Amino acid sequence: MSAPVSVTFAPVDFDALKTAEGRIALLLVPDGRLGAVARRVDRLMRGAVSRALEGKAWGKLKPGQSLDLSYPAGVAAEVVQLVKLPKKATVEEARKAGAAIGKALGEAGLTVVAAGQPKTAEMAMGIALRSYTFANYLSEKNGDKGVVTVMADKPEEAEADFAPMAAVADGVCFTRDLVNEPANILTTSDFANRLVEMKKLGLEVEVLEEKDLEKLGMRALLGVGQGSESPSKVVVMQWKGGEKDAAPFAFVGKGVVFDTGGISIKPAAGMEEMTMDMGGAGVVSGVMRSLALRKAKANVVGLVGLVENMPDGKAQRPGDIVRSMKGDTIEVVNTDAEGRLVLADVLWYAQERFKPTGMINLATLTGAIIIALGHENAGVFSNDDTLAGAVLKAAQAEGEGAWRMPMGPAYDELIKTRLADIKNTGGRPAGSITAAQFLKRFVKDEVPWCHIDIAGVALPPKETAFAPKGASGWGVMALDRLVRDMLEG
Ligand code: BES
Ligand code: MN
Ligand code: ZN
Repeated sequence: MSAPVSVTFAPVDFDALKTAEGRIALLLVPDGRLGAVARRVDRLMRGAVSRALEGKAWGKLKPGQSLDLSYPAGVAAEVVQLVKLPKKATVEEARKAGAAIGKALGEAGLTVVAAGQPKTAEMAMGIALRSYTFANYLSEKNGDKGVVTVMADKPEEAEADFAPMAAVADGVCFTRDLVNEPANILTTSDFANRLVEMKKLGLEVEVLEEKDLEKLGMRALLGVGQGSESPSKVVVMQWKGGEKDAAPFAFVGKGVVFDTGGISIKPAAGMEEMTMDMGGAGVVSGVMRSLALRKAKANVVGLVGLVENMPDGKAQRPGDIVRSMKGDTIEVVNTDAEGRLVLADVLWYAQERFKPTGMINLATLTGAIIIALGHENAGVFSNDDTLAGAVLKAAQAEGEGAWRMPMGPAYDELIKTRLADIKNTGGRPAGSITAAQFLKRFVKDEVPWCHIDIAGVALPPKETAFAPKGASGWGVMALDRLVRDMLEG
């Protein structure tokens, strides 16, 4: 597993700077005025810094962007990276400056000079997020990262500010690892084992096995997994950092470790991407990890439904009718609309057992949300304007795109069937909304609830500001912030 690079903070030390190997990053204000520390570094480098700042290239950089000086005189480092960061930088600009540094981090390590700069911890968060790589299966590159030392005016202060952020970065990287893992490695059992490991962090973790799910009547979830050799599981993670015995907030995730479509099989082209169909469960797991690592003062329960959707002699067929834990019958007209079947039972179980104060589910639920919103925004569906508003606000603050989508009883017409209480798809029109309406049927009216369709954002097609190409970890930061704002405040 790839934990984020560890960032340590230290006072400015010119001797260490002279002999530092690898890369040095200097954070500098846009107008090129050098502070006392930067002036000494400039002198050490025989004026190379001030010369660069007079050049055109520096002038063109936006806040958070950088310029490399190769083989500079006066220091042992191979590269000195000049990073533009305004005195009144926003959180996003500070993180982007860190991301520019983190992206360049190699094995030789990194020394960052942040003296006189604002938002040092946020900058370090950018380093932690963007230096992530997933190199588990690359024989050549083992992905080892050197150490990162940030030289700051008040290292203790920066370190204290950074500690809870490091917990969140760890959660983000945990989610990315889960989403990046192939399905032959991340089976339902392997996934569950990785969550059980988190008991060490103080989380209570239980694994419900097929016999338990059978007893609970989770036939909708079990139907999805019945064509797979991997046993279906529900994992319950409880973080009890709030008032004793107070009802928790619930996060629920779709954890389809691979989605072939089942008997309604998907086309071959692009099917390999369906290793990410556990993305919702990945986010829930990453958030629970962050909450535990930073010892959040809140009661939160995370539940994930882990299944594999495979075609097989035992697999569910189109036309099968299953009874959900709630008791409602479902006609499975398309075995590829499996996520909602899994969530229906886990959502119901979460409410019956925990009587949560509110509930958010995350899922790579529909291709239709990519048609609607592309890879820029997750789709947010809700029965509660206050909760939806809080989710959008938290996502915005963390720079994670999210957009509210409509719901309404008129859409229910599309998922009616003569054979059962409901069918699992309404065809192409409003495909993401009918999926949300389906889920809503399994949410009690009095529970504030939000469904977030992350099919477009969990595995973006290109690198982003804070992640290399591959899993983004979208939502871990937003939901961690939501917990802070809504439950810890
Ligand atoms: N896991 C997919 C949705 C998906 C598509 C996620 C692309 C990420 C990228 C989901 O289970 C699915 O297959 N949905 C179907 C629903 C349809 C059969 C009603 C879809 O979107 O095509
Ligand atoms: Mn599917
Ligand atoms: Zn799916």
